[in-house]
Amino acid sequence: MSWDLRRTIISFLCLFFKLHSFCNGEFEIKVPSAPLVAIHGHSTVLSCTFPVNGAFDLGSSVITWQRHLEVVHSFYHSRDQLDLQSRRYASRTSLYHSELERGNASLRLDRTTPEDAGEYTCAISTLTGSQKKSFPVKIAAFYTEPHLQVSTSPQSVELKLTSRGYPAPKVRWLDATGAELSNGTQTQLLTDTQGLYVVSSSLTQERGANSTLTFLLWNKDLHQEIRREFSLLAEAAIVLRDESRSALYALLPVAILTVLGILGIILFLKKSRCFPGPDSTATREENTSLKTAPQSSEQEQKLKNGATVLY
Ligand SMILES: *[C@@H]1O[C@H](CO)[C@@H](O)[C@H](O)[C@H]1NC(C)=O
Ligand SMILES: *[C@@H]1O[C@H](CO)[C@@H](O)[C@H](O)[C@H]1NC(C)=O
Ligand SMILES: *[C@@H]1O[C@H](CO)[C@@H](O)[C@H](O)[C@H]1NC(C)=O
Repeated sequence: MSWDLRRTIISFLCLFFKLHSFCNGEFEIKVPSAPLVAIHGHSTVLSCTFPVNGAFDLGSSVITWQRHLEVVHSFYHSRDQLDLQSRRYASRTSLYHSELERGNASLRLDRTTPEDAGEYTCAISTLTGSQKKSFPVKIAAFYTEPHLQVSTSPQSVELKLTSRGYPAPKVRWLDATGAELSNGTQTQLLTDTQGLYVVSSSLTQERGANSTLTFLLWNKDLHQEIRREFSLLAEAAIVLRDESRSALYALLPVAILTVLGILGIILFLKKSRCFPGPDSTATREENTSLKTAPQSSEQEQKLKNGATVLY
């Protein structure tokens, strides 16, 4: 077979089977083609593989992982070399040593935090070739079960939901028809000590009407949606409660007179030594009036699906 014919056949096979690295003598490493999303606090594997073609010499291979200019991990002379490793990555990185001869230079990164996000570069140099490639790493955390706080004032009722996650979420409130509510809503984003976001979103509505409201939170990196529905019921009971409170105020002078009268009798009985000890009638009276006039109008709870709020 002539040399030209052999070359033609090989080129054809190469084109047909796309055996690039073998045919062109190219040394092509592989890293993730899409951004890698790692979960905050967990381990993640930064994937990087290289061709070995049956000829791999560990001693003459150099593997370096970097984030921008920071050294994340390096390996040469057949072992991990961590002298130049950035302190941020200390005791958090490891290569799979038994996988190296198979061309797998993936790096495990433990206990990820939002600070680990960035462009990572895998650089490989072996006897058969060398190359480096980069890919972005994002850190994300699922938003937690929202915490609901309801506050009422004589004019309005406020729902406030708080949740924690990463990255910054998109938060919306919808009315019963599915239209977005922008009036009366307020969203605040804070950062906690771990670098995660604490989002608080509140919606204030005027009192007196029944309404159905939906809270929506979207975490784009994790495709996480939190949807919670609230039914605000302006019950007739509220009117009763207000009436009972004003009735209480009307009765207050009578109650005070009664208490004073009882105290007078107690004192009189004590003086005349016919009574054994202090009586708790007065205290009991106070407790009862405390119960009928609630001190706090705030309720708090964790949410699974939503809530019905009677106010
Ligand atoms: C490389 O090794 C790690 C650890 O065993 C494994 O999770 C990963 O899937 C391997 N990658 C490839 C491309 O085989
Ligand atoms: C928002 O509220 C203000 C005052 O409460 C009102 O004047 C305005 O019309 C409202 N806008 C919308 C779009 O509902
Ligand atoms: C709200 O709903 C409750 C129960 O469905 C009903 O009894 C009440 O009359 C409604 N109030 C208003 C203001 O629509």
